[in-house]
Amino acid sequence: MPFFRFPSNFLFGASSSAHQVEGNNIHNQWWAFEQEKGRIKNGDASGLACDHYHRYAEDFALLKSMNHEAHRLSFEWSRFFPESPTKLNGEAVQHYHRVLDALRSHDIEPFVTTLHFTIPQWFAALGGFEKEENVRHYLDFVRFLADEYGHKVRFWCTINEPNIYASFSYIIGEYPPAKKNVRLALKVLANLLKAHGRAYRILKESRPESQVGIVVHLPVFAPLRKGSWLDNLAARVADWMFNGITLEALKTGKIHFPAAWREQHDYLRDSNDFIGLNYYVRMFASPKHALATALNILHADVGAFQRTGAERLTQSGWTVYAKGMYRCLKRLHKKFDLPMYITENGIATDDDEWRKVFIRKHLRQVHKAIGKGMDVRGYFYWSSMDNFEWSYGFEPRFGLIHVDYADDCKRTVRDSAWYYADIIAKRGFWQDETAKESSETVK
Ligand code: FCB
Repeated sequence: MPFFRFPSNFLFGASSSAHQVEGNNIHNQWWAFEQEKGRIKNGDASGLACDHYHRYAEDFALLKSMNHEAHRLSFEWSRFFPESPTKLNGEAVQHYHRVLDALRSHDIEPFVTTLHFTIPQWFAALGGFEKEENVRHYLDFVRFLADEYGHKVRFWCTINEPNIYASFSYIIGEYPPAKKNVRLALKVLANLLKAHGRAYRILKESRPESQVGIVVHLPVFAPLRKGSWLDNLAARVADWMFNGITLEALKTGKIHFPAAWREQHDYLRDSNDFIGLNYYVRMFASPKHALATALNILHADVGAFQRTGAERLTQSGWTVYAKGMYRCLKRLHKKFDLPMYITENGIATDDDEWRKVFIRKHLRQVHKAIGKGMDVRGYFYWSSMDNFEWSYGFEPRFGLIHVDYADDCKRTVRDSAWYYADIIAKRGFWQDETAKESSETVK
């Protein structure tokens, strides 16, 4: 019976992001958005979230008890510069020092994301990433981070999921500023990529030994009807638009939107020491879906992409396709030949057995990739704890730690978290633990 062993220096941990867990991030654009009626499912608003801002020490102690070796978190730009690009809030500076020190005291390696969907309201009022001239404000923030925390942070993730940011904020309209304008979406994507390239240079100039990478979200696109060449074509187009353009830009420095524009930037070429992969979902494409999104004539219903009808859905309406993990790693490996970290992978469910199966199945794919010579160096489950899941509100339960919002955000470590802790302790798992494979079909 084989044992799927992970290398001794492979890092296991979990991910989070500031706005989703900290609470009271009142100065960013999400906070303002949440106050508008009808924006968030069930009328939720992030509010106190998990009160992680005050309870980080307790939370990191829990992660330590769960054997975590690394933690991915984000620093909230709007806490540092709440009202203007020049007026620094010293309390935030000290806070994040304490956060990093707390992680270090547990020997948990911090992976710090500089931008995870939230921007200060003053930056949003300037037009955010819609305008290239605004990028300098983000870069000033990155420069500040490098100077202030560079000696405490070895791993920087620049920007989280530029493709999701651009499409959800500017095509689908679920994230602020909830515009529906494909051209603007492309512009924002281009500006985010450029911002990443420049941020990479800043962080590396400041400390050449630091490891800096972007975080990409790669859904696997499949044809809705197997064997239909039209659906196949739609899947390829969707993949190119959603994944391909970003990957190509990161590799070559060329930002090329067919029939729109073409730019080449040296600072963007080879602008990663590692690639962070967020992998969650397979999407099914047909010409109808692709056209509706591209032309933006219908409400772009992402849900329509996500199922053929036969799959069991998670609380976020997604299907599970573990093999996609391997496919994405292989694609990134072929394109970049760089170290890779799974910076997010997780499932929203109350069925904790399903979460165990999910973790094991995805790790199995990661293990397979390593076995084939790919340089995968870590896995971060999304998320360390239940949290504010953007436009879905608090409903989806992604956490290894359960949070009872009605009872003072009481934390309870889930069984699946102990299961994961055991994998970390053993540095792998036996094949016979893979017995329960049934839960991805309809219940
Ligand atoms: C990713 C986001 C993360 C979380 C997960 C479920 O797209 O990066 O903040 O919302 O999805």
